[in-house]
Amino acid sequence: MLPDVGEMLCFHGVSRVFRAFLVWRGIVMLAATVASGPSQAGAPLSDVSWTRRHLLGLEELSAAEITLILDQAAEFKRLANAGQTKLKHLAGVVVANLFFENSTRTRTSFSLAAKRLSADTIDFSAGGSSLSKGETFIDTARNIEAMGVSQVVVRHSTPGAPLLLSQHLNASVLNAGDGTHEHPTQGLLDLFTIRERVGHVAGLTVALVGDILHSRVARSNIWGLTKLGAHVIACGPATLIPPHIERLGVEVAHDFDKILPRCDCINLLRIQFERQRSGLFPSITEYSHLFGMNGERLKKSKRDIVILAPGPINRGVELTPEVADGGNSVILDQVTNGLFIRMACLYLLHQQRLGETHVPCPRS
Ligand code: MLT
Repeated sequence: MLPDVGEMLCFHGVSRVFRAFLVWRGIVMLAATVASGPSQAGAPLSDVSWTRRHLLGLEELSAAEITLILDQAAEFKRLANAGQTKLKHLAGVVVANLFFENSTRTRTSFSLAAKRLSADTIDFSAGGSSLSKGETFIDTARNIEAMGVSQVVVRHSTPGAPLLLSQHLNASVLNAGDGTHEHPTQGLLDLFTIRERVGHVAGLTVALVGDILHSRVARSNIWGLTKLGAHVIACGPATLIPPHIERLGVEVAHDFDKILPRCDCINLLRIQFERQRSGLFPSITEYSHLFGMNGERLKKSKRDIVILAPGPINRGVELTPEVADGGNSVILDQVTNGLFIRMACLYLLHQQRLGETHVPCPRS
């Protein structure tokens, strides 16, 4: 009998059994995806409405649902550019940001997104909380939820932590990054930025370069890009590419210079030192020599190649300053667009809740 996963997760991590459960679930989902054939790109947007209570990953979203979020974000961006920076859509709603792992961009972006929609926000970080007194992850979240919270944004180093919360809270749960699993809003803002810069995603060749093995950004990018019809190349040292990743519909490459001329976009992933065991590549110098984006490589690329990086960037490792700050880089556009993506996600989940709980007033 499977133990109750809810009882197994505490702040310091999950048991081996829960990890095994997650890996197993991943394999089942992968098999289902492969069996369901090609992506659902091109599904008409007008036929789709948002029906999900939670945003846990891009794996479970259809192309039409992803496009719905991108279009909603584009609308919020249009309104902001027209001077409408304070909207009322979430007035009276309380959004809690529960961050059990460090963050600069995602945390501030979710917080500002909620404020731009007039929500009240609670910002919680693990350091200095009652977790150090032995309170469990779920009890902590339930206590915060009891303050009238209807949306919980959660980041945790354990894959599956947001899924677990979604099974124990009434609030909607938004995954702000769970270990090596997914970072859906980062994947969405990458898609948005590519679509904004190029005009479309379908048909593009996009390389994810670097530490694919430990990157939740890579996983969300793979799901999102393939569903919207892009060709994805996972490029990096063999030790940093997960085995059998081709089954997700991506090409695998170990020679960056060879694939570079074919790429329309490159997403440069950070080496996730905090999640790695040592010895996966000889040295940083060698890594950046083989896989770093620099001025020389830029000359061998398509003239309008789009350079993305999720941040934080390590200048001189994944890319040189001339690339990070050059005309092909959209790194700061990604940060700007992240705000509108998070507004769209908060708004759509709120709309779903209203649809579920709204009882029309009886006519007199
Ligand atoms: C993440 O939280 O995964 C970041 O956005 C990317 C990184 O840390 O490299």
